[in-house]
Amino acid sequence: MAPDIRPHCGEIERTPRTKSLKSSTTRSVQILHLLAFARMSLLFKRFVGFEYYVRDLERMARFCREGLGFRELGRSSARLERGNDQRSLAFSAGNTSVICSAPLGPASPAARYLARHPDGVGSLVFEVADIVATFAKLEQNGATPITEVESFDDERGSLSSFSITTPFGDTTFRFIQRRGRVGVLPGLAPHESASGDEFGFADVDHVTANLLTMKPALLWLEHVLELKPFWGVQFHTADVASNHGSGLRSQVLWDPDSGFKLACNEPLRPAFDRSQISIFCRDNRGDGVQHVALGVRDIIGSVRKLRERGVELMPAPPGYYDRLPQHLQELGLERIDEDPRTLEELGILVDGSGPGAYLLQIFLKDAASAFDSADAGPFFFELIQRKGDAGFGAGNFRALFASVEREQLARAG
Ligand SMILES: [Fe+2]
Repeated sequence: MAPDIRPHCGEIERTPRTKSLKSSTTRSVQILHLLAFARMSLLFKRFVGFEYYVRDLERMARFCREGLGFRELGRSSARLERGNDQRSLAFSAGNTSVICSAPLGPASPAARYLARHPDGVGSLVFEVADIVATFAKLEQNGATPITEVESFDDERGSLSSFSITTPFGDTTFRFIQRRGRVGVLPGLAPHESASGDEFGFADVDHVTANLLTMKPALLWLEHVLELKPFWGVQFHTADVASNHGSGLRSQVLWDPDSGFKLACNEPLRPAFDRSQISIFCRDNRGDGVQHVALGVRDIIGSVRKLRERGVELMPAPPGYYDRLPQHLQELGLERIDEDPRTLEELGILVDGSGPGAYLLQIFLKDAASAFDSADAGPFFFELIQRKGDAGFGAGNFRALFASVEREQLARAG
């Protein structure tokens, strides 16, 4: 299916933040400063992780530790808990930090988020080279900071950060600059004996958000965060399932410097209300982050371990592997390194864009299904191994769509 990314039209009118200028010299200096400033990038270094707000911290910790093999980095100190009114556990999945937080009192960010939503991603965290410059540039671009730049110190180093609101419901974006060996969460009491990363996770490949309408978010990402269009697709299953067909439109934007990619999905008519995107927004009680895709170096080894540990994965659609040889031929993939029988045994999906360019992916069941609790929310993880393909598995979108729909129908029934 042909990509459907189109550049948006129109420029946001900038409002200069300078006050009246007293002299021509001052004016020239300020104009030069503004010109230099306008060319300055946001100085993203990388996407470093996310904060996940949960009601049952121990249940989520067991899942991260025992199910996903995340490395436990530490937990919030008593001082940090008193300050934040929430308890946090920090994990790493490869280079990515996952902070799970549960409220201790009603004033915490976790409590405010959970008062409106089931468990879910409350914040995405980005590391930047110059926190003050990023704050100024984002504010100039029209971002809405929640806080000023705040600094924290512990015995391992210092961290400066601020957060902004986003068009993704109550999910915020947090920007940090670190000095020393401080983690993403300052004040963490580190576990010195933490075990290693068992699954070989690499960086986060992409983050996907679901929205009832994505245009405001796309404009915001382009104008405020200065992300660029990367990939897009839309499809509808009405052609194969006339009684319950549904669809989505998806667009991916990215930051070319850091490689961070954010996919946005919105429902597509007909049967708008039955689209899995609409159902996510209903179950999540608003727009939000649907999944985080973790890059893996050996998806077969990772999925074997996940299955051994009883982690539930989304099944491939019926007949997927019967059609796989034809599917690969249509993609121009004469051969892949993996044995198709192994992929079938493990439920791993394949997609690609031509000879020698393919990807392997699989989706975990969403938290509500995995924990059999609606309050656990509709968020899930994806695992992806890229072998020369930069796409997002357009062919598998349909497969995932069908799987998610079946899961949603099973939950409803
Ligand atoms: Fe994905």
